[in-house]
Amino acid sequence: MKRITTATFLEKKQRGEKITVLTAYDYLTAKIVDSAGVDAILVGDSLGMVALGYPSTVPVTMDEMIHHTKAVVRGRERAMVIFDMPFLSYQTGIRDAILNAGRALKETGCDAVKLEGGVEQAETIRALVDAGIPVMGHIGLQPQSVNVYGGYKLRGKSEEERKKLLEDAKAVEEAGAFAVVLEKIPSDLAKEITESLSIPTIGIGAGKFCDGQVLVFHDMVGLFEEFKPKFVKRYAELGKEARRAVEEFIKEVKNGEFPSDEHSY
Ligand code: KIV
Repeated sequence: MKRITTATFLEKKQRGEKITVLTAYDYLTAKIVDSAGVDAILVGDSLGMVALGYPSTVPVTMDEMIHHTKAVVRGRERAMVIFDMPFLSYQTGIRDAILNAGRALKETGCDAVKLEGGVEQAETIRALVDAGIPVMGHIGLQPQSVNVYGGYKLRGKSEEERKKLLEDAKAVEEAGAFAVVLEKIPSDLAKEITESLSIPTIGIGAGKFCDGQVLVFHDMVGLFEEFKPKFVKRYAELGKEARRAVEEFIKEVKNGEFPSDEHSY
């Protein structure tokens, strides 16, 4: 089976073929999304909120990311696996960024890393690419900076912010990133960015003009029920279905229906 690579991403943009990306944090989810045919699996630091119960992505560590990415790599056959660099694994300097991203590639078998930031991270992206580490950029809403912005609001509303985001996108491309995530920005701005870049843009809450889309798996199948941003479409209600199954199990154990002869030796 032919593995998806950074070159495939570029070819898809050139052919006008949409790119699909979903998150996974474990072996089974990776198997599901890989066998369904996504182009890339992002082991997002959303892991912190979705799988580990943290209040934000800020507490996530390299060790946690490595542990989960190893499981994801074991579950994929075709999709590219992208490792999300956690907070303070790259912001502290180029040497730290190379050592941590290198550790991710060497210890997990992932194919690329993703990091948040535009102009201010361009030098780091360039250094990683020069060291042989493919990088996906991430601009717009940057969840690791939640404490600076005081929330997860739409970015790129003012003229000043629009200009900055266009500069960020260009800086990430010029630094050598193979793709860039655009998070929670107006559709018309995402369109302008997408048309101005030769690398693919992968949108989340950035409208339909991006070259591809990424969603958090647990959001799109209805497993993460605490809140639902406007940009999430629920393709299933697995949380409700799982709760119904558990309630039925409890009822049947209590009333002696389970286990029946069929489930006994
Ligand atoms: O951590 C994550 O899941 C992400 C996506 C939302 C892009 O960064």
